[in-house]
Formats: sequence, C-alpha cells, structure tokens
Amino acid sequence: MADRTFYVTTPIYYVNDAPHIGHGYTTTMGDVLTRWHRQRGESVFYLTGVDEHGQKVLRKAEANGVDPQEWVDGLVEREWKPMLATIDVANDDFIRTTESRHEVGTQAFWERLRDRDAVYKGEFSGYYSVSSEEFVGDDDVVDGEGDDEGFKISSLDGSRVEHMTESNYFFRLSDYQQQLLDFYEANPDFIAPASARNEVISFVSRGLTDLSISRSTFDWGIRVPWDDDHIFYVWIEALLNYVTAVGYGSADSGDSERFERMWPADVHIVGKDIVRFHAIIWPAMLMAAGLPVPHRVFAHGWILVGGQKMSKSKANGIHPNQIVETFGSDAYRYYFSRALTFGNDGSISWEDIGARYHAELANGLGNLASRVAAMVGKYFDGVLPAAGPSTPAEDAIIELVATATADADAAIDAIAPQDAVAAVWRIVDALNGYVTEQQPWQVAKDESQRERLGTILATTAEGLRALAVLLHPVMPKATVVLWESLGAVDAIGPLADQRIADAPRWGQLPAGTPITKSPALFPRIDLDVAEPGA
Ligand code: MSP
Repeated sequence: MADRTFYVTTPIYYVNDAPHIGHGYTTTMGDVLTRWHRQRGESVFYLTGVDEHGQKVLRKAEANGVDPQEWVDGLVEREWKPMLATIDVANDDFIRTTESRHEVGTQAFWERLRDRDAVYKGEFSGYYSVSSEEFVGDDDVVDGEGDDEGFKISSLDGSRVEHMTESNYFFRLSDYQQQLLDFYEANPDFIAPASARNEVISFVSRGLTDLSISRSTFDWGIRVPWDDDHIFYVWIEALLNYVTAVGYGSADSGDSERFERMWPADVHIVGKDIVRFHAIIWPAMLMAAGLPVPHRVFAHGWILVGGQKMSKSKANGIHPNQIVETFGSDAYRYYFSRALTFGNDGSISWEDIGARYHAELANGLGNLASRVAAMVGKYFDGVLPAAGPSTPAEDAIIELVATATADADAAIDAIAPQDAVAAVWRIVDALNGYVTEQQPWQVAKDESQRERLGTILATTAEGLRALAVLLHPVMPKATVVLWESLGAVDAIGPLADQRIADAPRWGQLPAGTPITKSPALFPRIDLDVAEPGA
C-alpha cells in the first residue's frame, strides 16, 4: 500500500473562546502520531481546524457585541492558528467551517441524502444543550442541583438544557441501529479504547431516534439548499469537515480524485465527550450516503486540573502558552505524551511538569548529550573516535536500541504514545547507566586504553543518534539541536529524512565526525519564579 496516505484528524474546535491545553492535548497527540508515521517514510495527511457555526459561537459573539463572522475571524487568527505554532504542530491542512469548500461539500452531501430519501421534514419538540450543541432525549434530562438549581440538566454531560419547539429536517438515524451494531461487531477496532466502545454499543442498543439536521430559529450556519428558512444543525455539518477538507463535493474533478484517494480516514482522534457523534451519527451518515466509514475512532480521556475536568467555564482552563513559555514546546509535547495514558483521564500539575522536566529531560537526556560532547571535546579534540572491539556492555546497548525501537513502533500502531516514549526512554536510561558503569573519565587516565575510551564514546554517540531519530516526532526542536551537535547533518543527512526502522542500525556516525557542544538542550528552570500566578 505504498501510495496510501495515512489520514489522521483532530476534532474541529469551537471558536467560542481561546484554546486551552485540553484542545492542545488532542492536537499534540495527533501530531506525535503523524510525525512518527512520517518518520517511517509513510505519506501522511494531518488535518485539524475549527468549528465556527452553531448557537454557542453565535451567543458568544452576541455577548461581545460583535458580528459572528468577525468574532470567529479574530479568534482564529489571534488564537487558534498561533496555538499550532506554539505547540509545534506540523498539520497538513487547517479547515474552517465558514470556508466555501466546506459549505459546498456540506450542501452536496445533504442533497445526496435527501435524494436517497434519508431526510424528511418534521417538528422537533424537546431539549437542547447549547454548550454541547446537542439534542437531549427526555430520558436523559434531570433536575439540576446546587448551582444548577432551577435548571434542567443533561445527564449525558451535566450541561444545562433548554426546551425548544422548532420546525426541522430530520435524518433517519433510527434506520441504522442494526447496521451500526453489525458494523461494530464486524470491526472490533473501530472504536477504542474498550470503555468508549462499550459506551457506544450500549447507547445504540437502547435504540436510536431520528436526528434533527436543521435549525430554523437563527441563521448562523450553512444554508439548507432546498429551504431558505433553515440552516444545518452544527454537528451534522461539522462532522463533514473530514470529507470536505479532502475534496468531497467539489465540482473540480481533481478534488474528487483526491477524495477517492484519501478517504476513508485512518483515525479520528477525539475526546471521549464526543465519541458518540463520531461513532454513531457519523458512520450512519456515511452509510446513508454510500461512502466508506473511517477505520478508527480513538477517544482519549480528560485532562484534569486539581482533580476536575479542565474547562474555560470552571476557570481552570490553562492556555498552552502558559506552559510553553516556561518549559518550551518540546517539554510540553514530551510531558503530555509521556505522563498521561492516552485513552484514560489524567491529572496534570505544574509541579509534575517541573519534576519530569528536570529528572527526565534536563538530567536524563540533556545531561547525557552534554557529557558526551564534553568528553569527546576533552579527550579527542571534538572529533568522534573510532569504536574498537565490542564487549557485552556494548552488545547490550545495541540490542536494547533494536528492541526499544520495535516496541515503540508497535505502541504507535496501538495509539499508545505514552508506551512509545517509555520504550524510547529505556535507551536514555540504559545509556546513562552505561556511561556510569564504564567510567570513561577513569579510562581516560590510562593512555593504553585509548581504544576502549573511543569505543565507549562512540557507542554513546551512536545511542544519541538513534535517540534523536526516535524522539524527533515528540521533540522536533531539541532533537535537531542534538543532531547538529553530533555532526550528523553532514555525516548522515537531515534528521527528518532518517527512518525509524533504520534507527537501530549501528555505526552510522563515522569516526572523524566533529562533535560540538551545543547549548543545554533543557536548561534548568527556577520553578518558584516561573509558575504563573505564584
Ligand atoms: N466542535 C466540536 C467538535 C466537532 S468535530 C467534528 C467540539 N469542539 S470543542 O471545542 O468543544 O472541543 C472538544 C474537544 O476538545 C474534545 O473532544 C477534546 O478533544 C478536547 N478537549 C476539551 N477539553 C478537554 C479536556 N479537559 N481534556 C482533554 N481534552 C479536552 O466538541
């Protein structure tokens, strides 16, 4: 499947506010995953973007006294696009749902479903949650308590709901119950992890009702082409971004070829709050249209701050800038990849970021790199020595790099970035242990052991070379600095061209390569000074 493109998406985020690290988390993990696939030499397409329509965005714009288009334009340029640079994301496209490619594709899609008799007109009377932009069935509505006293609450996510009666178009979602259940059974990997899969199956097993696909009481949305009084309900147009971004519905034949080539997506990465939309409504829409269903939907858990789900409304929303300004984008990416288990909820704290930064990045990796460069400088005038005969200690390192690489590669296929980073970190730990045991500074005192000293330093440098390749998807900037300090650009070629599978191949850095001492990869940080608000 050489010409297949590995196509990964994030949710498109509501532009009602600035991003926080919950959004940053999904986007970073997708980026680590896709950068790893690129580093394997695969063709990759990584899509992210923003969801600009709907009542939530409209109300926020109105509350600020601005026209909704002006509101989203401002936030997208000031906040959402810059976030990608802040956390060093290499996305291939950025879709906005106010773009005409999305509008055209959305209208074409729903015309097609209407032609196939999957759409009818009716009246909706029931509950709606503006905060999650979701219709909520009567059985899922409860009386609020505490702060929510006097309000009706959605038991699906705790958000407040409003009662509404509206003329709507409906999609015959209920027709797809059995087809969906059969599909989940035939494709056990479609929804991961198992907790998300079980939730979806039990939800669908309880029965599906037809879904409103249009709204008629406000006009911030995409116009329903056959009825000027309606706009599309935000979710059923937002989901279509995954196909409109790759050419669906365009009149251009180049675009339709591109769509054929790219679709279906390999993985939709989503937070667990929105797995039901992606694993129920979305495949049913595609089935109704006669289009292939994506291969996988991966639902990750919540980032908890102070034990609570982080969100802007709780005022515990942390902007990615707050962490990146202190620790840098590499450490940010490393922390979220390593410290949380993708698929589970996980708590983060400033102290924990600081502790891992110092123990693992500054002392673990940074120190190793600077010690090796310093010793090659001191004992070999900054020129990499030749390795002499290997002893079991070197054989063990070479063997470990091979198994750690294979384990990390398998973890990426399992969408377990934390296991991939942990596997690679076995190399960091092993190399530090190797240097401590081999004591090159002692060996250097004995002139007759020059060759042995060369072997130790060449082995450690080779280990660092492999680490630069394997950690490039996680820490794109620091690994380039490391690569340059190893003299690898001239000796081997650009870091981005190195392949994961080739990382364990020993002896790539030739003797005679100039090794230079770089600035500290991860300088120590005075955390008492750095913590925001401290
Ligand atoms: N616009 C919809 C998605 C449409 S996709 C076709 C939406 N947007 S959102 O802005 O609310 O973003 C939700 C996503 O943000 C979650 O699915 C998750 O990826 C991320 N997160 C938001 N808060 C989060 C945490 N506290 N923790 C982890 N991820 C979080 O829903």
